Amino acid sequence: MGKTVLITGASKGIGRELAIVFAKQGYELILVARSRELLEDLGKRLRKKYGTDVTVIEKDLAEKEAPEEIFQELKGREIEVLVNNAGFGDYKEFAHSEWEKQYVMIQLNVTALMHMTRLFLPSMVERGHGKILNLASTASFVPGPNMSVYYATKAAVLSFSQAVSKEVKGSNVTVTALCPGPTSTNFEDTAGLVNSRLFHSLKVTDARKVAVCGYRALMKGKPVAVEGMSNKFLVFGIKLAPRGVSLTMINQIQSKLREGKPADQ
Ligand SMILES: NC(=O)c1ccc[n+]([C@@H]2O[C@H](COP(=O)([O-])OP(=O)(O)OC[C@H]3O[C@@H](n4cnc5c(N)ncnc54)[C@H](OP(=O)(O)O)[C@@H]3O)[C@@H](O)[C@H]2O)c1
Repeated sequence: MGKTVLITGASKGIGRELAIVFAKQGYELILVARSRELLEDLGKRLRKKYGTDVTVIEKDLAEKEAPEEIFQELKGREIEVLVNNAGFGDYKEFAHSEWEKQYVMIQLNVTALMHMTRLFLPSMVERGHGKILNLASTASFVPGPNMSVYYATKAAVLSFSQAVSKEVKGSNVTVTALCPGPTSTNFEDTAGLVNSRLFHSLKVTDARKVAVCGYRALMKGKPVAVEGMSNKFLVFGIKLAPRGVSLTMINQIQSKLREGKPADQ
């Protein structure tokens, strides 16, 4: 039997591409998302093409009990790699945002990711091997006006991943935070970013490239991986600049396209 990877948010975008990359490498797949049909279709395709064993779990990870239910369902299976990928954003000034949506975002992007890690990490440490890939973002490095909650969730993912990566150092278990910039997936539509400059001012990458970058960084056990040269420059600049300067720059990038002005003018 091959090694097993559990991927959340595998029905679309980066998670789907990650599933393809792992299938090519001979992993058995456990795919989680809400869209059962999309997962089944992908599973069928990957079984046919790579002879991969695929298990589909339909689950809303924003629900409190979801990680525990997944863990119980998989009792007895050795999970070599956990990919916490499911997540979404929301492009709205905080004062006018819908609280329920922000709450669900925090539940999914942060709480479920931490809970899944808490459930699957101990057995990895106990047996002395395993890997976790957490989807952070270039948004992890700076506050993001008009997407304040999303940027804050991604800052939490990076901070958490780096801290746990240090805790498990020496155990042969690694934790990697993958930080893509704007990537062509359903994310833009789900977040309502059509009128934002974000996907127009920065280089947009395709999801396959992000998945390959994440897979390689994970295999090397890197604690943090920023995808692409332009994103690396951006993050380098953010780290060098005073926080206020980075914030002003991101405020411009996050401003509305039609108005052509930063949100606070
Ligand atoms: N695209 C970008 O520009 C970008 C940049 C940096 C980081 N990221 C991060 O990359 C990750 C993947 O995003 P993406 O760009 O691939 O977006 P996407 O195409 O919208 O895919 C999001 C995935 O998450 C799943 N998901 C959403 N809500 C869920 C829930 N409540 N329970 C279970 N699964 C759920 C979706 O499946 P269902 O709808 O079927 O549930 C889908 O498979 C996210 O964490 C995102 O923050 C994206």
